Amino acid sequence: MKRTKVKELLDSTAYGTEVTVKGWVRTFRNDKFIAINDGSTINNIQAVVNESFDAALLKRLTTGAAISVNGELVASQGAGQKVEIQVKELEILGDSDAEKFPLQPKKHSLEFLREIAHLRFRTNTFNAVFKIRHTLAFAVHQFFNDRGFVYMHTPIITASDAEGAGEMFRVTALDLENPPRSEDGKIDFKQDFFGKSTNLTVSGQLEGELAAMALGDIYTFGPTFRAENSNTTRHLAEFWMIEPEMAFFELKDNMQLAEDLLKYVIKHALTHCADEIEFLRTRLLEEEKQKPQDERSELDLTAKLNFCLENNFERLTYTEAIEILKNSTPNKKKKFKYLIENWGADLQSEHERYLVEKHFKKPVILTDYPKDIKSFYMRQNDDGKTVAAMDILFPGIGEIIGGSQREERLEYLERRMNEMHIPTDELYWYLDTRRFGSAPHAGFGLGFERLVLFVTGMTNIRDVIAFPRAPKTAEF
Ligand code: 4AD
Ligand code: MG
Repeated sequence: MKRTKVKELLDSTAYGTEVTVKGWVRTFRNDKFIAINDGSTINNIQAVVNESFDAALLKRLTTGAAISVNGELVASQGAGQKVEIQVKELEILGDSDAEKFPLQPKKHSLEFLREIAHLRFRTNTFNAVFKIRHTLAFAVHQFFNDRGFVYMHTPIITASDAEGAGEMFRVTALDLENPPRSEDGKIDFKQDFFGKSTNLTVSGQLEGELAAMALGDIYTFGPTFRAENSNTTRHLAEFWMIEPEMAFFELKDNMQLAEDLLKYVIKHALTHCADEIEFLRTRLLEEEKQKPQDERSELDLTAKLNFCLENNFERLTYTEAIEILKNSTPNKKKKFKYLIENWGADLQSEHERYLVEKHFKKPVILTDYPKDIKSFYMRQNDDGKTVAAMDILFPGIGEIIGGSQREERLEYLERRMNEMHIPTDELYWYLDTRRFGSAPHAGFGLGFERLVLFVTGMTNIRDVIAFPRAPKTAEF
């Protein structure tokens, strides 16, 4: 008989019909009530067995076992659910060793769950997280598709360092025990697979710019890799990034598109993942109760998401932000780990979060950063000191988006690349866009896991990606 998903059955009122459900046993109580979950929802369906079933068979209904039940859908007698199944046939598809089963009915720490890859997905928390992650990814595509953007697949393996930060994983087919060497003793990458030294990409932007200068509006959505040794709750070594690039866009257009995108996808999640967000909101409130009063957040998850939708993001320049930070209480009382003394200082997450959470109490877009702390491709402002950069800062997250208007003037770009020791000869193909019909254009990068972190209210970025990659972490 055709299987029906639990999600569908829980909403059904087709009492008296015969149904088949396949899923995993969450609990089996009083030799009578099986709670079955099949992943289609965080809620379980109750299946009721009577005395006619063989005791040896019922014994195998241990937590985690995969089963198939067939029976009649009836109105539930008990509280907590509308419907249940009166079981006629029961089949064990896969036994689960009750002695060794690592999950207990009690709550487990997220750190513990990270170590049991297969069962992590079976918890309600991760069911909710990955549903929301899926919904957000879908919404991203919907947003751009509706606006006529073309989804570009930029390469994973690249010979260039798009951000110029040098934090890359090398890709090689050379024998590392005995690599070929050139006369000067250096490893000879001419003999490597691609005939040159290659890495995993840190960003699809440079290739994206080429496409935008022909197709107009494009976006990428793919994995990016950074070998920075940041062991934080907001960094991954492998993360997914969304990078739109728009011809004929200036900085203010770029900011508006970024704000519209964030609001659109958050709203989409609120509408389409109401159950999951409600589950995570409650979970978070429970967690907050463990904290001292003054460390609890003022808004719960749903309120925080709605708050982002209802407020215009605050726009200000880096220079204005530095003034606010310099005069802020934590700076004067030396509470910041990195004190803000001079213009030109790079902003740390503590500063970004102060601006968003304490000063403005809403998302912030900072623009016009000093050129020395930003990438070579950003458009230089007339003051000679700043570039047309924009970072979007979110509560609890810090930087969620980084972007800029691009330097479209060939001589400015080449000069800046030389100053920053970015090889102009290797990037000839990028510079060509400035030689043949260059035009103002802009784009940004949205860190997908940081977005998922925000919408789920989780606190560690490793808990919003299925198989996290971080320093010393590449299990599974
Ligand atoms: O600010 P970033 O480095 O910008 C770029 O890569 C540009 N090429 C984007 C563009 O203009 N097309 O990274 C963009 C975003 C950050 O704002 C952050 O959300 C995320 O990517 N991000 C990370 N997320 C998780 N782990 C990391 N190690 C991240 N590094 C950046
Ligand atoms: Mg950045």
